[in-house]
Amino acid sequence: MSFKRKDLLGIRDLQVAEIEHILDLSRSLKEINARSIKKVPTLRGKTVVHLFYEPSTRTRTSFDIAAKRLSADTYSITGSTSSMVKGETLLDTMKNLEAMKPDVFVVRHSASGAPHLLAQHTEASVINAGDGMHEHPSQALLDMLTIHDHKGRLDGLNVVIVGDIYHSRVARSDIYGLTKMGSQVTLCGPPTLIPPDFELMGARVCNHLKDCIPEADVIMVLRLQKERQQQMLLPSLREYSIIYGISPAKLKNAKDDVIIMHPGPMNRGVEISPEVADGPHSVILDQVTNGVAVRMAVLYLLAQDRSSLPDISRPSSPE
Ligand code: NCD
Repeated sequence: MSFKRKDLLGIRDLQVAEIEHILDLSRSLKEINARSIKKVPTLRGKTVVHLFYEPSTRTRTSFDIAAKRLSADTYSITGSTSSMVKGETLLDTMKNLEAMKPDVFVVRHSASGAPHLLAQHTEASVINAGDGMHEHPSQALLDMLTIHDHKGRLDGLNVVIVGDIYHSRVARSDIYGLTKMGSQVTLCGPPTLIPPDFELMGARVCNHLKDCIPEADVIMVLRLQKERQQQMLLPSLREYSIIYGISPAKLKNAKDDVIIMHPGPMNRGVEISPEVADGPHSVILDQVTNGVAVRMAVLYLLAQDRSSLPDISRPSSPE
């Protein structure tokens, strides 16, 4: 099947076949990342603009590396280096950039829905690289790829997501994706950080780690998002860490082949102990590696068929 969308704004609206298609393509693109010359001409002549209004290490770098490995030209604008600091609106910034004819915008913004708004006002493809507390589709895709690499399937697995579910766009996209692909998603964390509507998304809630860890095939640990805690939803970091922090002691009754994931950045010693983050069950750096392949696949699918211009570098074929 081909991927017919202009934009990738979330996992919620994707069909199972579309997710499978992106994961299959990511697997075949991985091979490029293992070569000594990591570049193919696929997106030569395409322009990718990264618009990041929130901090990012992994997502921005891996989108940039992915675009460059496919030979696209990339430009990066961050909140502090853009005219936003002079009062320009996001839409005005985007319309001005649009006038320079880019092919793809990769957008991260603190407002949920910002990439969707931009997508309605541009002919370029828009990729949501994280919008507020809403979605982070490329993270969910790389998480699914990593789980599949280690477990050989997604169907029938029990994935336990632990921690600050409420503020997490990663949790939302992972729940949409994993439940579509047949996994059982269990959420565990302080009740103040798991609002009831998550059960409507198809996830199950477990109040005590000791009850869900023994059944887990995958434990996905989330960062405690201190920057988004407006109300006091937690009594103290120390208490949080004692009750929900994933440490070797908490994993005592876990399955032998359990894998530990974290989207990063980690608060070591808060939601995850260094022994677990760097331990034998951790696949956290595999997630980062897979991020490049998944973003190559997404860029390829969105950008490849959008060129209607003839290739002027080649002589036209005889009539
Ligand atoms: C996540 C994000 O920004 O949503 N990080 C990431 O993209 N790898 C998770 C987080 O910030 O905790």
